[in-house]
This record gives sequence, structure tokens and C-alpha cells, in this order.
Amino acid sequence: MNRRKFIKNSILASAISTTLWEFPFRSFANTTPKNILVLGGTYFLGPAFVEAARAAGHSLTLFNRGVTNPDMFPHLEKLRGYRSPATEEEDFSALAKRKWDAVIDVWPHDPSMVTSAAKLLKDRTKHYLYVSSIAAYAEDQLAQPHITEETPLAQWDGDQSPYCRGKAESERQLNAIIGHNLTIVRPCGIKGVRDDTPDALDWLRRLQNGRQHIAPGDGNDPVTIVDVKDVAEFLVLAIDKSIYSTFNLTGRPMTFRYLLEECKAVTHSDAELVWIPGDWLHQHGIDSVYLSNWLRKFPDWRPEPSMKGFFQISSEKAYGVGWQTRPLRDTLIDCLEYFASIDGYQWKDTLSPEEEAKLLELWEHRTSSP
Ligand SMILES: NC(=O)c1ccc[n+]([C@@H]2O[C@H](COP(=O)([O-])OP(=O)(O)OC[C@H]3O[C@@H](n4cnc5c(N)ncnc54)[C@H](OP(=O)(O)O)[C@@H]3O)[C@@H](O)[C@H]2O)c1
Repeated sequence: MNRRKFIKNSILASAISTTLWEFPFRSFANTTPKNILVLGGTYFLGPAFVEAARAAGHSLTLFNRGVTNPDMFPHLEKLRGYRSPATEEEDFSALAKRKWDAVIDVWPHDPSMVTSAAKLLKDRTKHYLYVSSIAAYAEDQLAQPHITEETPLAQWDGDQSPYCRGKAESERQLNAIIGHNLTIVRPCGIKGVRDDTPDALDWLRRLQNGRQHIAPGDGNDPVTIVDVKDVAEFLVLAIDKSIYSTFNLTGRPMTFRYLLEECKAVTHSDAELVWIPGDWLHQHGIDSVYLSNWLRKFPDWRPEPSMKGFFQISSEKAYGVGWQTRPLRDTLIDCLEYFASIDGYQWKDTLSPEEEAKLLELWEHRTSSP
């Protein structure tokens, strides 16, 4: 059976089994239709937001360059322009002097880009929304579990990556520019339709072929994944109900065992998970010192003590105002379906079957070695 057929069969079977799940009830009845300007809107989270907002009855205008998926949403109003950290290069002329009920800035992390749009639009909307990230938190805060929205963010002149510092500084500046009528969301890793990072897919594809597979750690490490549709629907909820403030959107932590068992369930796999402690993997060449290595071989597993809280960030504030999150199975099915829809996509496991088999054999015959 070829790859696409296999994935499609898995999806079909899973779709049938998920009808047994209780889906959270999302009702957009009784919302007042609003005019919303989307800065971005055509790559990943943008389209999910557009779809959720349209389903809720809102009118949308997209502002972008017309480079990414220019044919998406043919019936929506599209304004073309250009955003840049260099003010002299920016072109916001298409926005003219128009007003919107809500404006959402979906994608940038460069504070100059974020602030110039906010300054231009702040008096032309009642509600401004910005998509940040949990990456905005200061790195030294991520060792503690259950951090909330009050936890300090990365310093602008800190030594973390420009993405983290940029999101943090953009938030600070937006709070100063917009003030009260501002909603900021901080999602964790977002998965689902149109996500082209294959970390969840790695686990799904690895496990769906049966056989034994390395499951890192003891199964109790926490992990969070948020569905792109759930992030989008929270943003629409915030617009509908005029919910301001800052919200973590990480969902509730699950164990790594649950994640892998759900990957097996979705692909109807009888794979055997062999739980191997991180120290042993480290001693045998899958090196925990190099973070990128962990991420590549065992996606979404962050066992380092300095990141103990990374997958335990609290989203209780968002749940408290009505956020709903869907079952992980739905998200995993969307991941499979999306990758199956990409013509010519060739999945390649970051942990080769040969390397994995060798490690499993060493693990099975460990007696004298550590
Ligand atoms: N993926 C994750 O796991 C994750 C986790 C936490 C937070 N986040 C956040 O989630 C958001 C995801 O954003 P997205 O990329 O999916 O947003 P999007 O709005 O779907 O796509 C990006 C948009 O920006 C437009 N654009 C790019 N360069 C532009 C420019 N110079 N001037 C004007 N428009 C421009 C693109 O259109 P054109 O190219 O046609 O201009 C496109 O419409 C980001 O804020 C990210 O930091 C992601």
C-alpha cells in the first residue's frame, strides 16, 4: 500500500472512530457581525482565523503582499501592501483612512513592524489583537511549572533568539500603544490543518508501521499541543465577547505516553512502545546536550530540567473566559490529512529505522553496560 493510501485509510478509519468522541459544542449564534481587518491571513493560523470568523458571520478584509497563497479566499476583500522594519519601505496606503471593528495582527515578531501598524490603526478600531507565543517568556522562567500570564517576558536586550525577544518586546510596545482594548494570545506549538512542520507527523508515521519503536523517557513527561482551529476560535471568541487582556493558549498538559498512544490509535497501529530513559539514550549517542538533536529525533520531548515548565504553562485564564479545546485525535487526523494533501511531499524520518533498530537491540541486551 502506498504512503498516501495508507494515510488516507488511517484517516478514514479514525474519522469513523472519532464520531464516538464528544466534541465540544461551539456556538456562534447571537454574535453581532463585525468588520475585521486581518494583517496577514493566508499561510497557517491566518486562514484558520479567517475560516472561524467567517463561520461566525463576520466580514473580513485581508492585508498582505499577495505573495503567499494569493488565490486563497477569492471572495474576500484583499488589500495589498508591504510591511517592513524599515519605515521608509512600508506601504500601508491601501488601508487609507478606513475603520474596522477589530484588527488582528497575526504573524510578525519584529517590534518595529508590529508597532508601526498599531500606531497607524489604533484610532481606527475598537479592538486590537496580536498573536504572540509562549516563546516570549524569559527563558529562565521555563524551569518552573504552571507559569501564568504574569510571568516575566524576555528582555529586549537579552541573549535569547530574535523571535522570542521580538514577541516579548512587541507585546510591551503594544500594551503602551493600544492600552486597554488589546488582546494578546500566547500559543504553544500549534498543529493541525496547514501546519507544515512535521514533528507530529514524525510520530504518526513512525508508529503507524507497527514494530517496536523507542519512546523516550518513562512516559510521564508532559507535553502540550494546541490545535490551530482552537487558537483561531479563541480569537473569534475574544472579538465576539470583547475579551481583552493576555492569554496563554497551550491547552492542558498530557503525558508523553498519552500523545504516543493517541498516535497509535489514530493510525490503528499495533506498534510496541519501548520506553527508554533519556540518560541511556544520551550515553548511546542520541545527545541531550544538543537540543536540536532531541527535537529532531524525538519531536516535542523536552526533558531538560531547564525546560521543565515549558509544557506545563497554565491556560486556565483562557478556559475561564470560555475557551474550548478539541480532542488531540482531531488534531492528529488533521495533521495526517494535511500532509497527505501535499503533492510530492516525501516524509523522511529524522531517526533512521536502522539507527533505531540498532539502539533497540542494544537496549534489549543491556546487562553489563549502563
Ligand atoms: N507555528 C507554531 O507552532 C506557533 C506557535 C506559537 C505562536 N505562533 C505564532 O502564530 C502566528 C502564525 O502566523 P502565520 O504565519 O500562520 O500567519 P498568516 O497570517 O497565516 O500568514 C502570514 C501572512 O503574512 C503576510 N506577509 C508576510 N510578509 C509580509 C510583508 N512583508 N508585508 C505584508 N504582509 C506580509 C503573508 O502574505 P504575503 O506573503 O502574501 O504578504 C501571509 O498572509 C505567528 O505569529 C507565530 O509567531 C506559531
